[in-house]
This record gives sequence, C-alpha cells and structure tokens, in this order.
Amino acid sequence: SENIYILAIESSCDDTAASILLNGKVLSNIIASQKIHEEYGGVVPELASRAHQQNIVPVVHQAIEKAGITKEMLHAVAFTRGPGLMGSLLVGTSFAKSFAYGLQVPLIEVNHMQAHILAHFIEEEDFKKPPFPFLAMTISGGHTQIVKVSNYFEMEVIGETIDDAVGEAFDKSGKILGLGYPAGPEIDRRAKLGNPKAYTFTKPKVDGLNFSFSGLKTAILYFIQRETKANPNFISENLNDICASIQYTIIGILMDKLKLASKQTGIKHIAIGGGVSANKGIREALKNGEQKFGWTTYVPKFEFTTDNAAMIGIVGYLKYLEGAFTEQDITASARLKI
Ligand code: KG4
Ligand code: ZN
Repeated sequence: SENIYILAIESSCDDTAASILLNGKVLSNIIASQKIHEEYGGVVPELASRAHQQNIVPVVHQAIEKAGITKEMLHAVAFTRGPGLMGSLLVGTSFAKSFAYGLQVPLIEVNHMQAHILAHFIEEEDFKKPPFPFLAMTISGGHTQIVKVSNYFEMEVIGETIDDAVGEAFDKSGKILGLGYPAGPEIDRRAKLGNPKAYTFTKPKVDGLNFSFSGLKTAILYFIQRETKANPNFISENLNDICASIQYTIIGILMDKLKLASKQTGIKHIAIGGGVSANKGIREALKNGEQKFGWTTYVPKFEFTTDNAAMIGIVGYLKYLEGAFTEQDITASARLKI
C-alpha cells in the first residue's frame, strides 16, 4: 500500500509546533515554546501571535528536515482550526492554507480537542489503543471535559467545566504561591515531596458530570492570606505540603467525576489527554482505577500530552484515509466545538 506523508501544524495557544507523520507514525515532532509569557505569568495573546509569526517557517522547515523528506513528498497539510486564541490560530491556518495551495495537496482542518483524544491512535510500539466506545477526559490549560468516544469522529461531551479549566486551577494556585508560569509541573514535582493530607480544601458541589475550579482557587487564596498573616514564612516553610494538598484535592475532583461517568455509561475503557495528563499524581490515580474499578486505562506518551503537532497529524492522517478534506476558504474558529 501507499506511503502517506502528512505535515501537521499546531498554533492554538503559545506553542508553535510542526510534525511529519508517515502512515500515522511520527517521523518528527518539533515544538517552539514561547518563553516570553513567563514574565507575565500567563499567555499574552498579542505576543503569542507575533511569536508564532516568527517561529512558523523555521519550525516547519525543521520538521521536514528532521523527518528526512522533501516537501514534494507530502500528501496533505493538516492544521489546528480551533479552539484556541484567534490571533494564534490565524497564523497556523494562513500558513497551512498557503503551503497546501503551493504544493497543490489537500488541506485538512483539525479540532484541537479531538486531537488531544485521538493522540492515543498515533502509531507507537508498546502502546495499546483504546477500543470504541471509550471515555476520554481531556484536561489542559484551556479545557476540562469528559467525552464519550464512539468512533474517531463520533464524540459527545458528557461533562465539562462551568468556569476555570483544571490547568488554570494548577497555574492560578501556583501564582498565589509565587511559583512561575505554568505552575502545573512544579506543583506536581513538589507534591511528591509533601503530605497530601496536610491541609484540606472543600471540593465544589457541581451536579452531574460537570466540573468547577474557580471556588478552589478562591479557597486557596483565603487560606494562604490567613496563614501568612499568622506566619509570614508560611508558604516557604510548607510549600511541598501545600502543593501536595492542592494536587490531592484537584485529583479527587477529577476522579470523582470520572468514576461517575464510568458508572453512568458502563464504559470501563478510560483515556486521558491534554497538558495536565502529564501529572504524575493523576496518572497514578488512574492506574489505581484498574484494580479498584476494573478499568483499562490509557495514558499518552509524555511528548503527546502537552500541545504538540503530532496529535494534529494523526487526526490529519485519519481524515486523509476518509477523504475528509477542507476547502481553501476555511477560517480559524476560536470556539470550535467537538
Ligand atoms: O494541553 P496544554 O499544553 O495546553 C492547553 O491546550 O492548554 O496544557 C497546558 C496546561 C498548563 O495549565 C500546565 O500547568 C498544565 O497543562 N500541566 C500540568 C503538568 N504539566 C503541564 N499540570 C499538572 N501537572 C503537570 N505535570
Ligand atoms: Zn491543548
């Protein structure tokens, strides 16, 4: 059978990424992370789109070079159409359209949230793919959803956050504690060294499968204000315990809803995706679900959890096989739904 080469481009937030896949296998996966946002403690949209503009051509060039192919060998160009920051999406979308037009190959639009889920179908040795139907919990800096996945492109959101995303809960808690942005990885690292039951934060009461994280952020803020009033060194003296307790609470919230979703749907194949699925605590909690609830769980390889173009590429490949191509008059969509 024919060898299908796909170029994929991701620019929905603050990472400019490009990847080449051959029949669903990753040949190159290049990411230019934008350091500029660290000093602002969050992504600044205007700066993000400027940096994408700067990075996009070198990143695509590198992806092609690293894959050891020439651009003439490409069969299609896949790109993130949304959801994300409009200024960021526009750079990747415009570039992908022009590149596909120049090469006279099909253009393929990809939904970023579908890609976080379908990252599990990237061809990888020693990685099992989830069978349909399965539940996918997508946890990132912008989203928190539980999705019932009946087929590659048959997905239903059965629960989602009504306010902040779980990644924001990590990042905003970290900001209160004076940690750098994004704080998720550092809270994760420190959580391992602290006592998860040192402090308790009440979990939000939200009906059904929906999530809420804004109350937790406020609770943490008041807690820290109260404690530092009594002891100005409270944070520095107890940082690992604070991180462990915050992480423990967040994981509890996620696992409660996942358990409920599994119970309600009767589905025991459970996958996670998105930046927060890099978290060691959530990986462990999920794994424990295999013993406790008879689940089979699926966690993507670390490099395919945070934003990357390989996950866009696998969706591009699956759509290529179905002949699901996109017209040249397509526009980016900041609020694209699954
Ligand atoms: O998927 P992603 O790279 O970008 C979005 O689409 O949002 O997710 C980024 C989010 C950030 O909030 C970051 O703090 C969080 O993922 N994150 C983590 C970890 N690694 C990244 N959160 C907790 N533990 C981690 N190890
Ligand atoms: Zn993402």
